[in-house]
Amino acid sequence: MSQVTKAVIPAAGLGTRFLPYTKAVAKEMLPIVDKPALQLIVEEIVASDIREILIITGRNKQNIENHFDRVYELEHILEQTGKFDSLKIVNEITDMADIHYVRQKEARGLGHAILCARYFVGDAPFAVLLGDDVVYTGDGTPCLKQLLDCFEQKQKTILGVQRVDRDKVNKYGIVTAGRSEGRVHEVISLVEKPNVEEAPSNIAVLGRYVITPEIFTYLETQEPGAGGEIQLTDALMKMCRDHGMYAYEFEGKRYDIGDKLGYLEATVEYALRDPVLSDGFKAYLKKISSKL
Ligand code: G1P
Repeated sequence: MSQVTKAVIPAAGLGTRFLPYTKAVAKEMLPIVDKPALQLIVEEIVASDIREILIITGRNKQNIENHFDRVYELEHILEQTGKFDSLKIVNEITDMADIHYVRQKEARGLGHAILCARYFVGDAPFAVLLGDDVVYTGDGTPCLKQLLDCFEQKQKTILGVQRVDRDKVNKYGIVTAGRSEGRVHEVISLVEKPNVEEAPSNIAVLGRYVITPEIFTYLETQEPGAGGEIQLTDALMKMCRDHGMYAYEFEGKRYDIGDKLGYLEATVEYALRDPVLSDGFKAYLKKISSKL
């Protein structure tokens, strides 16, 4: 049985929805309270028992590499001043996983970004997590682990999905589902960002995938699709026809942090869950909401 030991995080997008912040800073480094969103994604991967991670970066993304690297001066000062709790936080980030990087030289779409991972991945199934999608599962099973458990049974590509509001289907890859068993649906077809009127369902692919390596053959010849970009969804669609695939309706609260409102929702809800901040923040929210 194939085991998944590698994960890929495409983080080369230009972040145009978050300008001007993203002019010089990677959008994946937006803070959710005190952690960059990308760290939450890496933590989900590690909690799902994968330690080999490839981050696909681009220009203006050096702060990503810095975040997961050692900072000797800071570590030294924290040690000298006895701030061992902070030192632990800093060291844990560096020791969490083996992180590799490759640069996508041109912003040619998600499919093209994944193609940049082919030498890292080799001939084995791999996980893909998109930096815009943060999934909170609390004490439950991490989102990626849920997909990996499904992959173990099916041994075919698994798409992480949830149902979205009908009027939002044009933001996502949308699945036409066949036979279903509980949370697992057979995928009949896939379409990238359909019009609201034409969407085959409201089952949306939400930034989590376990993909078999045949995808690279399809990506190599994939023509640009929606938005003039080489779309992962289009290559997956062709692969689905030839090899079959499943969609898994994962449990967890998913935030679209690439969207300003989604980002604000994530920030507020993570702050409300923070044991240190929660009481004070709740009192503040109550105070201002009475004036809204
Ligand atoms: C990408 C994918 C899309 C998926 C979405 C999830 O779109 O192309 O299929 O549903 O992520 O967030 P993007 O949001 O990068 O435009």
